[in-house]
Amino acid sequence: MIKDRKLIIAGNWKMNKTAAEGVALVTELKRLLGHVKEVDIVVCPPFTALCEVSKVILNSNIYLGAQNMNENDDGAYTGEISAHMLKEFSVRYVILGHSERRTYQKEDDELISKKVRKAHASAIKPIVCIGETLEQRDRGETFEVLERQIHGSLAGLTAEQMLDTIIAYEPVWAIGTGRNATPEQAQEAHAFIREVLARKFGKEVSQRVRIQYGGSVKPSNARDLMSQPDVDGALVGGASLDARSFSEIILSCLW
Ligand code: PGA
Repeated sequence: MIKDRKLIIAGNWKMNKTAAEGVALVTELKRLLGHVKEVDIVVCPPFTALCEVSKVILNSNIYLGAQNMNENDDGAYTGEISAHMLKEFSVRYVILGHSERRTYQKEDDELISKKVRKAHASAIKPIVCIGETLEQRDRGETFEVLERQIHGSLAGLTAEQMLDTIIAYEPVWAIGTGRNATPEQAQEAHAFIREVLARKFGKEVSQRVRIQYGGSVKPSNARDLMSQPDVDGALVGGASLDARSFSEIILSCLW
């Protein structure tokens, strides 16, 4: 299957891996995936591992992402990290609006949209996470939730910035549960997201934006999910912590 949009598969390490463990993981990934050109490969370590990991993957086919950043340039924001600080380690991507941050840090769409705009102003590509909870799905509100999150978290973006934005559709009920969305469920949501993007930014832009699926992606289901016409990659949590399973996911998607 040939797609116009290049697949982008990112590993979200969450609050796992010391710098030394991160170095060991990317060293192994470089060995297993050094030949892969067909997929954009991204690792998103915790802040404390960015510096050491960036040195290992310098000039390789593995790009660096962060898991969050602050919406301000600098100043009195204890415990926060700015875009400028991330740039020091050649961070190219930043995950914004992950459901864990929406839940535990109470991040809302308005805050997320400020972070997204700051990422663009700093030439970092945001990976913007959206997705419904199980209760919302059961109540038949999935599309409504997705539409609200798209308009809210992408507020104020130009069409050009949208092209440099990645959307991650992550149904909350599939994250860390072992229960992935079926390929059909993922495709249905992705097609809807593209439709909303078409209305907001125009059809041409919507056709070029990459939409990742996230939620219990593993070597055994990655290929079926990625085969769907509107699924352009994956945001992988648990299975990205192990070099072999993360590389198997990527290698299984080289059609
Ligand atoms: P999971 O996490 O792959 O462990 O379900 C995905 C994510 O939260 O991005």
